[in-house]
Amino acid sequence: MFTLQKVGKSYAGRRGVVHALRDVSLTIEPGNFVTVAGPSGSGKTTLLLTLGGLIRPTSGQVEFLGTDLGSLDERRLAAYRNQSVGFVLQSFNLIPYLSAHENVMVPMSLRANGDANHGRRATELLERLGLADRMDHLPRELSVGQQQRVAMARALGNNPEVILADEPTGNLDPALAAEILRILQDLNVQDGRTVIMVTHSPEAACIGTHRVHLDEGRCSAIEGLGVGG
Ligand SMILES: Nc1ncnc2c1ncn2[C@@H]1O[C@H](COP(=O)(O)OP(=O)(O)OP(=O)(O)O)[C@@H](O)[C@H]1O
Ligand SMILES: [Mg+2]
Repeated sequence: MFTLQKVGKSYAGRRGVVHALRDVSLTIEPGNFVTVAGPSGSGKTTLLLTLGGLIRPTSGQVEFLGTDLGSLDERRLAAYRNQSVGFVLQSFNLIPYLSAHENVMVPMSLRANGDANHGRRATELLERLGLADRMDHLPRELSVGQQQRVAMARALGNNPEVILADEPTGNLDPALAAEILRILQDLNVQDGRTVIMVTHSPEAACIGTHRVHLDEGRCSAIEGLGVGG
């Protein structure tokens, strides 16, 4: 699914250069459920954003199903982000003046040749995530955990092959966290989607098939966890 070769990302700042990723090389196969762990500032979010085509690496190469993401122009990269990848990021980026239901429809509406059943699909996704009675609420009228689930529903709208999740259970109580993990696991095991999830929780790390550890932007290896995780 993904092949990374010596991927580096540096940010130039007033106090010098920050190396967020250094020479990260790894292969993620279709259907893998990869958990990413490491200290704060070790480059976990940067890795997800790089896989998702939201930032371009400063060195090295990211291939998605044999296509070098660096070779795509902005329009193609935007199509890749919209259709192949579902993002559940640390800041949910819900649009404040749209309802939960409308927020979920946004990526579906951006898709050029999608079918027209966006409304029904958004309803189904929100119901699946336990938000049947919150469809018409604005983000500020939702709890943090509910906003998290709206973001999750939005990520699933276009049936992405890859789900990139940045601490998707970080703001949830244990019951909801378990529910989100179950949904991600379903999406992986039943639908065969590739999931890449940043997490600090040991329970969450257990459900993955592979584990990556980042330290100061370096990743030594991807660790397989055997059949069934
Ligand atoms: N846009 C940016 N400009 C400058 N430096 C940045 C930028 N984004 C990230 N960094 C730096 O790159 C490093 C890696 O950041 P990143 O957000 O990937 O860490 P993280 O592992 O996700 O941390 P956390 O667990 O706290 O979310 C950090 O030192 C951060 O300060
Ligand atoms: Mg982060």
